[in-house]
Amino acid sequence: MASVIEIKNLTKKYGDLLAVDHVNYTIEEGEIFGLLGHNGAGKTTTILMLLGLIPPTEGTAIVNGVDVIKEPLQSRRHVGLLPENAGFYENLTARQNLLFYAELADVPDKEASERVEKLIDQVGLDDKRGVKVSAYSRGMRQRLGIAQSLVRDPKVLILDEPTQGIDPEGTQDIRKLIRTLSKDRGMTIIFTTHVLYEVNKLCDRVAIMKNGAIAGIGTIPELRKQVNADEGEDFEQIFLRYQGVV
Ligand SMILES: Nc1ncnc2c1ncn2[C@@H]1O[C@H](COP(=O)(O)OP(=O)(O)OP(=O)(O)O)[C@@H](O)[C@H]1O
Ligand SMILES: [Mg+2]
Repeated sequence: MASVIEIKNLTKKYGDLLAVDHVNYTIEEGEIFGLLGHNGAGKTTTILMLLGLIPPTEGTAIVNGVDVIKEPLQSRRHVGLLPENAGFYENLTARQNLLFYAELADVPDKEASERVEKLIDQVGLDDKRGVKVSAYSRGMRQRLGIAQSLVRDPKVLILDEPTQGIDPEGTQDIRKLIRTLSKDRGMTIIFTTHVLYEVNKLCDRVAIMKNGAIAGIGTIPELRKQVNADEGEDFEQIFLRYQGVV
């Protein structure tokens, strides 16, 4: 398997605070990779550096063979992002928002309209494509955000807390979508979450961050083994062990 993302000594300091602390790992093509950790652990900061949106203090990341420090714009071309709080034009419909975004992303007009209609179907907003976003629920907005992050047809999709504030049914839909994108389109997907049940269901591999550093990384069975978890311990307990809570 080829590495799509190589994180090398990646570090971010805000004053005296080490938000991301000399981190090293790789993410392979087609993986569903979970980035976990307590509030303030450094997940979003890591993601923003992977996208070249904030500069590392030290180290770097190679995304699709492109160094995010040397060529931040180039490295971002093949990466879609669903941010923690995706924003849209409230007075525009799903279709209009996506077409506008496609234009910004330089998708040729001919391709754009076909791609937008397909994406709307794919994220399950087909009966809402002509409705203004101002009338959307949080779950619908999140699905529109995922569609938006796919407009450029990226190789890597990064989702920052995709199911936060979404009801169980909507959460299940988003999980299905993530699985489909990975299995059918071979996309590499990185997502952060505090819902550990979700991680168990979805992730090929997981990194657990603690105070900016990596406390553990691997498949769930590997993580379980590393802390000598008992047979009956669920992933939540294992996670808390890595956090030093139990
Ligand atoms: N622009 C900034 N200026 C100063 N400190 C920042 C800035 N952005 C983040 N931080 C700090 O860096 C640390 C890591 O924040 P980050 O947002 O990466 O955490 P997170 O793991 O995404 O947390 P959450 O689960 O709450 O989303 C926190 O202590 C945060 O307060
Ligand atoms: Mg965050």
